[in-house]
Amino acid sequence: MDIQDLKTFEHDVVVVGAGGAGLRAAIECSAQGMSTALVCKSLLGKAHTVMAEGGMAAALGNVDHRDHWKVHFRDTMRGGKFLNVWRMAELHAKHAPQRVRELEEWGAVFDRTKDGLINQRNFGGHRYPRLAHVGDRTGLEMIRTLQDYGVHQGIDVYMEYSVLDILKDGDKISGLVAMVRDTGQFVIFKTKAVIFATGGGGKAWKVTSNSWEYTGDGYAMAYEAGAELMDLEFTQFHPTGMVWPPSVAGILVTEGVRGEGGILLNNQGRRFMFDNIPERFASETAPDEEEANRWLIGDKTARRPAELLTRDVVARAIMKEVKEGRGSPHGGAFLDIASRQDAEYIKRKLPSMFHQFKVLAELDITKEPMEVGPTLHYFMGGIRVDADTQMTNIPGLFSCGECSAGMHGANRLGGNSLSDLLVFGKLAGTGASEYSRKMERAPIIDADQVTGIIRHATDILNREHGQNPYLIHDDLRETMQNKVGIVRTESDLNEGIEEIQALKQRYLQVKADGASQYNPGWHEALSIRNLLITSEAVARSAAMRQESRGGHTRLDFEGEREEWAGANVVIKKGVDGKMEVNRVERPAAPEHLKEIAHSELSALEASIIAEIKP
Ligand code: FUM
Repeated sequence: MDIQDLKTFEHDVVVVGAGGAGLRAAIECSAQGMSTALVCKSLLGKAHTVMAEGGMAAALGNVDHRDHWKVHFRDTMRGGKFLNVWRMAELHAKHAPQRVRELEEWGAVFDRTKDGLINQRNFGGHRYPRLAHVGDRTGLEMIRTLQDYGVHQGIDVYMEYSVLDILKDGDKISGLVAMVRDTGQFVIFKTKAVIFATGGGGKAWKVTSNSWEYTGDGYAMAYEAGAELMDLEFTQFHPTGMVWPPSVAGILVTEGVRGEGGILLNNQGRRFMFDNIPERFASETAPDEEEANRWLIGDKTARRPAELLTRDVVARAIMKEVKEGRGSPHGGAFLDIASRQDAEYIKRKLPSMFHQFKVLAELDITKEPMEVGPTLHYFMGGIRVDADTQMTNIPGLFSCGECSAGMHGANRLGGNSLSDLLVFGKLAGTGASEYSRKMERAPIIDADQVTGIIRHATDILNREHGQNPYLIHDDLRETMQNKVGIVRTESDLNEGIEEIQALKQRYLQVKADGASQYNPGWHEALSIRNLLITSEAVARSAAMRQESRGGHTRLDFEGEREEWAGANVVIKKGVDGKMEVNRVERPAAPEHLKEIAHSELSALEASIIAEIKP
């Protein structure tokens, strides 16, 4: 093949992925005067961002004036079990309020307080009402705003283009090879800088809130190009996904339901979260119904209900009820808002949930409890990046949003993802623009790399017989759900790794029937390479970390272990082509941040009040 025959687009920066992080990054690049491409395999803005329904966390202090970036930072570190990259959590807490206000300036229509300020609601692990929200459609409003604003910024949008792999010029980025999904044509993007904002890899599991796009593409392409992946053992199972009927299992039930007062009950009608309050959060959590009820009616001296503990804690507590025979009929728990708020309030604050249950489960949430259970929602781990610039270890490759690692440590607080997308999308846009500007020499495209990538893709169509991609995917989902699920053991993980190896062997013979024009079987086959790499990285990281922390629970290594408190699991492709898994010691925490994260809440609050008083 002569690569001169391939259509080549040339840009200063190419952003891959058009959810919140990708859109924000592209807007920034364009604002910095870069010729910017935004490439997405689905439609612009059709992204998992919309599944962050309940709000975006930022210490605006509109509902409780005591809120401050330091408290937000402290909550984030504690929620992440202190494994977060300190600098990322600091940048996030400091920059989030500006990013939310900017979004409002660009047209986002937030719910308002009585005084006309952006309204904020409670969410798990956040000390104060902190989530700026638009009913239960916050992610959707964020996407709408970024799209409306972004399309006027001179960004070139390439919709329904699947990026297949990275091209390098020496050790640096030189471009990407992509395939146009409807025509099957291959194209080249020639560029000095690439930003991956490709989201997570939830489609490796059976029960997930993720839609079809989430196949770990960014992780796999970065890994193949020599980037490091970090913290992949930390996978977040959101405690409340739908469990019934089976056709909708996994669809998200926003944490906003609990933020608005919803409670969790077992099949005996017991509010079981009071039995599951971890030591770390005991002094900040209401120990019983009496105090939790005072909190609901706005008593500021009352502590937060146990339903608003962090997601890892709530998800495990639900699984415990199920395992011990106290679960709901379809293997979950009951989430009751009907007995806590009146029908009009529920419909106003949670319109999508009302509609979702009415249409999908024939259930009126203003009258009956919902049945809910854990669903794979989010990857805390991802591509390892520098906190300030979001650049990876490959010069010219940047990453932001869910596909990058570090911000959330071992467990993400709800609502921190939307603010993460904005904060780090902007930083990645700045980092990539500065890098691209400084690189004087135009990158050189290596024809052999291009033909190798295209040959892998076309072999799938050209072989006479082979393995059905859909069956490989089904088997992978089975393996990840059963062996690399919400609770893990060494033997399950080892079996999981073996099964993934067997699937990789089958994948060598994967075959899609038909031609290259719009061919879903071929697209599926191409994605499975990425899912297999992602799944192997998750399983191997989980096998290495011999402790339980945040989103990683080992039945054979219960509790957090001191010897793991200062280490990350980092993965890269070895010279022999095999996956290398390493334990990497973390740099020492900056003293000023350590002090904030570990301070007593009352002492921190007193110091903030002293600081802001004239
Ligand atoms: O429950 C939710 O609305 C999800 C929010 C998030 O993942 O940040």
